[in-house]
Amino acid sequence: MKVLVTGGLGYIGSHTVVELIQKGYEVIIADNLSNSSIEILKKIKQITGFRPLFKLIDFREMDEVKSLFNEYEFENIIHFAALKSVSESVKFPNLYHENNVGSLNNILECIKSNPRKNFNLIFSSSCTVYGQANKLPITEDSPVVKQESPYGETKKKCEEIISEFCKKNTNLNSISLRYFNPIGAHKSALIGELPNGVPQNLVPYITQTAIGIREELTIFGSDYPTKDGTCIRDYIHVIDLAISHIDSLNYLINLNEKNHYSFFNVGTGNGTTVLELVNTFEKVNKIKLNYSFGGRRDGDITEAFADCSKIHNELKWKANLTLEEALESAWKWEKNLNSKD
Ligand code: NAD
Ligand code: WQD
Repeated sequence: MKVLVTGGLGYIGSHTVVELIQKGYEVIIADNLSNSSIEILKKIKQITGFRPLFKLIDFREMDEVKSLFNEYEFENIIHFAALKSVSESVKFPNLYHENNVGSLNNILECIKSNPRKNFNLIFSSSCTVYGQANKLPITEDSPVVKQESPYGETKKKCEEIISEFCKKNTNLNSISLRYFNPIGAHKSALIGELPNGVPQNLVPYITQTAIGIREELTIFGSDYPTKDGTCIRDYIHVIDLAISHIDSLNYLINLNEKNHYSFFNVGTGNGTTVLELVNTFEKVNKIKLNYSFGGRRDGDITEAFADCSKIHNELKWKANLTLEEALESAWKWEKNLNSKD
């Protein structure tokens, strides 16, 4: 079974590629390396024993996307390729729209022009589409709200485009996965998250502080209406997240239906405060972290964690790995990265 993985050298993509190869899928990675390195291909080979096919392409370029569809035989697509920085998207909204929405449109155009093939598409969406939900845990019935950032807008827009496309085209079935907060790394510590510059996300900031690249972690806000005053999120191990893509794909492959579109939360169902996460990191890795409390970060929501019963009931997927395992793997990855510098 062949699978095209767009953005397959990125953080979540590379972990998904490893899981796919280990389950016997034939993978074609297509990436423009705008936020990843070709070195990841070697790491994938080191872990799995296989070097997947790789095509350097930019999904914004229609000619390149067309030639990819002509050159390779595939009907299954996992679409990770996107830009993902919320703050960068505020500075460059057009870039985010062109890259994230433009790339999807090009892929859909190619699907449309191959009407004799039936495609399955898994799309990387985000819990950001819910904003600050009124009811917690967040179910898929929670409304998708107007987005605060251009990045969030691209995710909302892409979901809408796919949903409409599936209604009109019988040769595409699709699932959007709304990730909560992916963290951690492969247990080999050969692949993991590679932040560009100063990390904006919590866990890479923690690991870079622990290793001495950053002086101190600032915990953004200590006066939120939560049990310890810090924000609550649902942190999911990247390996569990990777597996949710394979389960979603298998569901579509075995589906005897046309025009199918559905969307699922992918989280653990557990809400963890920033302080709890910091304490757990210190405990499992037997390390003291330098941190202090600062003001709230603009745009942060107080609390988000998933109700994952829909994906469990319909796709039989659930998270199996713990926060401890995720934070242990994140630290092992950071140490491994720095041992080679
Ligand atoms: P990442 O930046 O590590 O990976 C994205 C990959 O896509 C990179 O390898 C990049 O080079 C590639 N890419 C980007 N634009 C491209 C283009 N136009 N053509 C070809 N390749 C392109 O990001 P990630 O954390 O692995 O995220 C993967 C997906 O998951 C993204 O769609 C992201 O929006 C979504 N997501 C991520 C998170 C998160 O916290 N990491 C949360 C929710 C959703
Ligand atoms: C987690 C918590 C921060 C850094 C973002 C995107 C979202 C999604 C995931 C893609 C928050 C706190 C963080 C720091 C801190 N991405 N924090 N000090 O904000 O839930 O979501 O990434 O779709 O769209 O907005 O994740 O890791 O940035 O923050 O105290 O130095 O850690 O305030 O409470 P977030 P995060």
